[in-house]
Amino acid sequence: MDVAVVGDPESVGRRAAVLVLQGLGEDPALVLGVATGSSPVSTYRALAEARREGTDFSRVRVVALDEYVGLPETDPRSYHAFVWREIAQPLRIPRDNVLVPDGNAPDPEAACAAFEEALRAWGGTGIQLLGIGRNGHVGFNEPGSALDSRTRRSALSETTRADNARFFPRPEDVPAYCLTQGVGTIAEARTIVLVASGPHKAAAVAAAVEGPVTEACPASFLQRHRDATMVLDPAAAAGLAGHRVSEPTRHRRSGPA
Ligand code: F6R
Repeated sequence: MDVAVVGDPESVGRRAAVLVLQGLGEDPALVLGVATGSSPVSTYRALAEARREGTDFSRVRVVALDEYVGLPETDPRSYHAFVWREIAQPLRIPRDNVLVPDGNAPDPEAACAAFEEALRAWGGTGIQLLGIGRNGHVGFNEPGSALDSRTRRSALSETTRADNARFFPRPEDVPAYCLTQGVGTIAEARTIVLVASGPHKAAAVAAAVEGPVTEACPASFLQRHRDATMVLDPAAAAGLAGHRVSEPTRHRRSGPA
C-alpha cells in the first residue's frame, strides 16, 4: 500500500481526483466505486471541476458501497440521493450508469445477490474510492466483518450510528441496518484509493496501515491489496510511525493481491 500525506483536506481531494482521472484516461468507461460521507466530497468537487474543464464522464459507471435499510431513495440522507446529488449529476453521468444497493428491497438477500451480479456484468470495479470509519470500517463493514465477506445486510455499530447522527434530526433516527458491499467484494477492485482527513481518523488509519491484518480493523485488508493508496492530511496521518509525506507519483504495485 502507498501512503501519500498532503497539506489539507482539499489537497486530499485533488490528489485522489488525479488518480481517478488517470484511470479515466486509461478507460473512458471506467467503473468507479464511490463512498459517501464527508471524506470524499472534496474529491467529487475536484472531479466536477475537471468536468467543467472538459473531461467527459458520460461513459463512467458509478457503483456505491452501501445504502441504509428502510430510508426512501428520495430521502436526501439516502445514499441513492447522495450519489445522484454529489456525483452523477455534477459529472453528468446517466442514471442507467449508477448502481446502488437497494435498501428498500423486500428481499435484502436477493437484492444483494442482484447487486453483485450487476457489478460483475459491468466487469467489476476499476477504481474504488473509500473513506474510513473511526472504528476502521470500510463501506459499512464494521469490526468483525470477515475479510472475504460479500454484499449483505448488516447492522451498523453504535460508533457508526453516533458518527452519522450529524445527518439526522435525532440520534435514534439513524437507520440501524444497511446493505453493504463486503470486504471481499471491495477487495476485488483493481485499484483502491482511500481518503481520510482529521485527527478523529488518526487511530483507525494507523491500525489499518501499520497494525495486523485483521477483521477487527476491516480497512487493514488494504495491506494485502496490490494497488492501494491512502491519501491523508497530516492530522489523519499523525498516528503513523513508518510513513512520511510522499510525492504525487503513480503508486507502485506491491505485494500479493
Ligand atoms: C459510506 C462509507 C463509510 C464512510 C465512513 C467515513 O459510503 O462507505 O465507510 O466512508 O463512515 O465517513 P466520513 O467520511 O463521513 O467520515
